[in-house]
Amino acid sequence: MTTDGMLRLHVLRQGAPDRLPLVLLHGFPLDHRMWLDVTDLLPGDPTVLAPDLPGFGASPAGEDVAEALGAPTDAPSLDVAADAVAAALQDAGVERAVVAGLSMGGYVAMALLERHPGLVAGLGLIDTRSTADDDAARARRLDVAATVLAEMRVDAVFGMRTAVLGATNRVARPDLVDRIEGWIRDQGPAAVAWAQRAMASRPDRTEVLAGFDGPAVVVVGEEDELAPPPAAEHMVDVLRDVELTVVPRAGHMTSNESPEPVAAALAGLLRRAQA
Ligand code: MLT
Repeated sequence: MTTDGMLRLHVLRQGAPDRLPLVLLHGFPLDHRMWLDVTDLLPGDPTVLAPDLPGFGASPAGEDVAEALGAPTDAPSLDVAADAVAAALQDAGVERAVVAGLSMGGYVAMALLERHPGLVAGLGLIDTRSTADDDAARARRLDVAATVLAEMRVDAVFGMRTAVLGATNRVARPDLVDRIEGWIRDQGPAAVAWAQRAMASRPDRTEVLAGFDGPAVVVVGEEDELAPPPAAEHMVDVLRDVELTVVPRAGHMTSNESPEPVAAALAGLLRRAQA
């Protein structure tokens, strides 16, 4: 992979070199900044790395990342995102890490587990699901992709600034609505379209989780309407060494609605993976 096609890998904390790093994968349509509330709270001395996924934040477009990887440029895929994360980690000298992702980041973490199993020493699945989209969800994503490209603006996903919050925080946290809207406004239509098409084509990865014998955590907001608690329980049912955290009065963005239990779950996962 050339430097031009490399994901931007942000070092959110520089910890002890002898400890496993924590890799955090962001949700849609955001970038690595959504993790800052959590990383400020992590105890101990972990190194925390957070890439911007293809097209988001400071990373190159999905098509450019695919080209740099020698993958098809006309078929957006989270496999490309996962391979690009693996390449960025390899470039940073990381051979093994605890990998955690929220929602779309969780889909990429599962693709990484399938495609680069030796890299994953522990797995954090936050407000995400292992199942594929149904036909209606897939069609909605393709519509959104076509709309943002036709309009050359990301207004079609502004609704996510409230949809990602739980019913409690939609009312109680206007500050969070504003922050999330700001993050969404910073992303481009090409990134939104590429990611929607990539998510639409992702397979069911429940069996990949069933084959993982390392430590895992599943975290879900009790008010998450996008990847609700039954989706979390479905993953917990198949993982072999897993701890579940249900976060009260939080929706899909537990990382920002209630970062303390998310940081605690990730700190526990790092301890178990290190043991
Ligand atoms: C996310 O938060 O990343 C999205 O809800 C993922 C999705 O659209 O499935």
